[in-house]
Amino acid sequence: MNDMSRTAVDALWWQRGVIYQIYPRSFQDSNGDGIGDLAGIIQRLDYLRWLGVDAIWLSPINPSPMADFGYDVSDYTDVDPIFGSLADFDHLLTETHRRDMKLIMDFVPNHTSEQHPWFHESRASRTNPKRDWFIWRDPASDGGPPNNWLSEFGGPAWTKDEATSQYYYHAYLPQQPDLNWRHPDVRAAMYEALHFWLKRGVDGFRLDTIQHLIEDESFTDNPPNPDFRSGMPPTLTFARTRQMDRPEVHDVIAGFRRITDSYDDRVLIGEVYLPLERVVTYYGTPGRPGSHLPFNFHLIGAAWKASFLADLIAQYEGLLQPGNWPNWVLGNHDRSRVASRVGRESAALATLFLLTLRGTPTLYYGDELGLEDVPIPPELVQDPWERRVPGFGFGRDPVRTPMPWDSTERAGFTSGASWLPLNVDRDEKNVETQRAMATSQLRFTRDLIALRRRCPALSLGDYGAVESRGDILVYERLYGGTRLTVALNFSATTVYTPLPTGNVLLSSTGGRSSEIVTKLLCLRPFEGVVVDTSLTSEEQD
Ligand code: GLC
Ligand code: CA
Repeated sequence: MNDMSRTAVDALWWQRGVIYQIYPRSFQDSNGDGIGDLAGIIQRLDYLRWLGVDAIWLSPINPSPMADFGYDVSDYTDVDPIFGSLADFDHLLTETHRRDMKLIMDFVPNHTSEQHPWFHESRASRTNPKRDWFIWRDPASDGGPPNNWLSEFGGPAWTKDEATSQYYYHAYLPQQPDLNWRHPDVRAAMYEALHFWLKRGVDGFRLDTIQHLIEDESFTDNPPNPDFRSGMPPTLTFARTRQMDRPEVHDVIAGFRRITDSYDDRVLIGEVYLPLERVVTYYGTPGRPGSHLPFNFHLIGAAWKASFLADLIAQYEGLLQPGNWPNWVLGNHDRSRVASRVGRESAALATLFLLTLRGTPTLYYGDELGLEDVPIPPELVQDPWERRVPGFGFGRDPVRTPMPWDSTERAGFTSGASWLPLNVDRDEKNVETQRAMATSQLRFTRDLIALRRRCPALSLGDYGAVESRGDILVYERLYGGTRLTVALNFSATTVYTPLPTGNVLLSSTGGRSSEIVTKLLCLRPFEGVVVDTSLTSEEQD
């Protein structure tokens, strides 16, 4: 028996619930400037309530010069006028809560914008009191960057500031100088910003790129990346061992957690792109807790094969310590959309998988319609990563296109010119059309969320057997006397597998509900089903 088993009553909302990520620029525009905003999100809250999600997470809405579309913050305690005002934010929060949903904000602690007043001060002179709020180093003996560290977004991670003849460090764009988290005043100022939003009533944070918060104090070179091959992006030439995932980072996160825990019922999510055995360290330890949910992105790069996925589940479960609550993610604003990765015929199967795994699922806006990556012609590219390192498929614009609400010309997203093009298949892939259909990806996603809510076995249950049988992945979820069996067919052919007698509750390809399975389950190509096999539990065991 897993000691995190909870009853439906005492489980926390972020353990039971489904999180929905909104990219605010692209959800709903309310004022015709072609960019989504908070008033637009408010207009769509009833939709989210209808869909059945429990919490929404907003990518950053703080004032920003938008060099990295909001991940370059110039004021941590305000709202960018593109998105609205603090009053709009308070209104959004009230309206979200009124519909029994939670609101999670993005918080970007690793770096500010170069336009943040703190950085203006810091770069003003070597003796400015805020000089050490950022990371400044002398040039190397040849006048070049202090070491070989590279930016995630291409080029050196150091930019020389001519005024004071020193380099400042930036894990991402030169417009995103890294804060020096070893400085107590930086910690105090950033923790204060967290209180600002918690007092307003936000239900939690998704902390951006937490593995980058602290760098190796010795500033020695990174070793070569042993996996580097020619043809790979030059940003991967070195292993980033000195730049990220340093032991001291866990103290900083514990500080975030102490603050979050001093308010009722809030959640701390951490963005960590690391191997699973490193991801789980971001749960922290009992004496030094970390984030409640360090994002597990490992489905995003996973081979779409039953045996691989069974191993992935086993590996992750094996790494979790008592008290660690699992979570899974299929897509976000940085990675190719799931329907493009796995194929549109598998989009529903993928959603069924995400929502029946043990742990909190995070859905990315538009995935409930089966949206695919939208090709962006070169002249319309917005993403700085694509502009700096073109040709490797890093561009994130294709997954950030406007939400298609209906089949009108601008898809109900805006009355103006949208900041990124819409999906060309929006006649079929839009909310209004799919909502009106008897079966659609949207209808299916909604049914699945409802089933998950109805069956605590899906949200809170332990795993029974988890196994791959050729192209089929089968796992059981157990809760009280309930046993649900999930079977997923990853192949393009019809397959059969033995199954205890049970009732089909839901199929990703439609129909079948209330069908009784006896002994042998037939799965259509790319079909996933949830079967209630509780009745036969005893005779099978
Ligand atoms: C995270 C965000 C990404 C952003 C980067 C720098 O990875 O998800 O969108 O560009 O951090 O802030
Ligand atoms: Ca707008």
